[in-house]
Amino acid sequence: MKTVSTPLFNADEIRKVLHLRDNDSLRFFCQKCKVGTAGIYVNIKAIERKCPSCKSTLMHCPVCRECTSGTEKYKVITCDKCSTDFITDSTIEVLEVQNRESKDIVLSGIRATGELHLGNYFGAIRQFVEYEKENNLCMYFIADWHTLTTCQDPKQIMLNSIAIATDYLAAGINPERSIIYTQSSVPEIAELALYLSMVQNKNRLEDLPTVKDLVRSGESMKMGHLFYPILMAADILGPRATVVPVGSDQIPNVELARELAEKFNRQFGTTFVIPRIGKQHLKVPSLTGGKMGKSDEDSSVSLRDSLEIISDKYLRLGITDKGRKIRTDSGIPDNCVSVYPVYKILYENDQGLLNKVNTECRSGVRGCRECKLELAKSIHELIQPFQERRLDLLKKQKYVKEVLHFGAMKAREIIQPTLMEVREKLGIMHV
Ligand code: ADP
Ligand code: TRP
Repeated sequence: MKTVSTPLFNADEIRKVLHLRDNDSLRFFCQKCKVGTAGIYVNIKAIERKCPSCKSTLMHCPVCRECTSGTEKYKVITCDKCSTDFITDSTIEVLEVQNRESKDIVLSGIRATGELHLGNYFGAIRQFVEYEKENNLCMYFIADWHTLTTCQDPKQIMLNSIAIATDYLAAGINPERSIIYTQSSVPEIAELALYLSMVQNKNRLEDLPTVKDLVRSGESMKMGHLFYPILMAADILGPRATVVPVGSDQIPNVELARELAEKFNRQFGTTFVIPRIGKQHLKVPSLTGGKMGKSDEDSSVSLRDSLEIISDKYLRLGITDKGRKIRTDSGIPDNCVSVYPVYKILYENDQGLLNKVNTECRSGVRGCRECKLELAKSIHELIQPFQERRLDLLKKQKYVKEVLHFGAMKAREIIQPTLMEVREKLGIMHV
């Protein structure tokens, strides 16, 4: 790689001078710690970070936390040319978001446990995209640390992490507007979780249904299982998220994060924002009626499944109204285990279509087989655009990794001020 020392801070200008193409990647090196970043200064607008007083451009390395023409202390950058203090862009951005009522900081994560399924789509990803459209600051991550409670295969975790980042993008999350990162690329989260564990009562954790679910029958409870909700609270409270969209199974964990925030605030003074739980809490049934999950691939509909596979899965495994013996019997949609409940979610904004399914079932006009095939077709139509975008992104994995790289930098910038405040309140010295 060619290394050039240039006083230019603008990527477009640098490309012009070096005769590079638009998509040629650039790496920038911090003059102090020599750590390279793939153009972070450009992508997070740090390039435009000027001292508000003397207007000189400040270059800020996200690794050594120093500016090449200023020094940062906590949330303040001091311009070393004119000695004016001002807060960082990211802090301003977060404060702006918090202050403007119409905007939220939306945060959620998905574990790197396997292929995304219809439950993840309706319970999480579809909402992620909606929140982004509403002009919120969205932070979506891959919970790779959380994955370690159920999967300790390093190759799988690595592959699944990049696959989920690819799926986020394929689902339509825009990395220019949302921050996409892996949890492990933000070490501040682990430090914050450690502090939160100091105020959390252990018995409360042992009673959480989510912790009990994680400890499968026969398996002993590990510290990681107990620590899971605390780590999740750090994910949420670190960026001062105001809304956390999750499926119904995760609500007890978000409630715990709220409690922890309140407890810490009472003890040490207001520090954390109390997050709200997202507006929709769905539970998508698996083909056999339980909760659809990545750990039970056989009874899940993967977002990668073809129409043939989805149809075959519903025909073989889908459970309808058990009381309906022959096709002409009238069915009771509410007794249908795994087909009608998915129609309800799929057609929640189209009562006409839902009523049609309901009345045709009740009157015996619609047989369970055709009902399953029609559902498979509707599901496939819904996920087909996702599948096409995913195939395209599979050819651009370098780009996906770059998104994660920038995302980590941005997430760290946002979480660091909270961590500094917590350290200060706990009397942990910054030396
Ligand atoms: P899994 O349970 O498949 O391992 P995760 O635990 O990583 O998936 O869940 C990621 C997100 O998807 C969470 O918000 C979770 O609540 C949601 N989710 C997972 N399964 C379902 C489901 N069957 N119905 C609704 N939401 C779900
Ligand atoms: N525990 C969540 C799940 O299994 C994933 C997750 C980790 C998460 N940290 C989070 C979700 C913070 C929302 C907010 O689905």
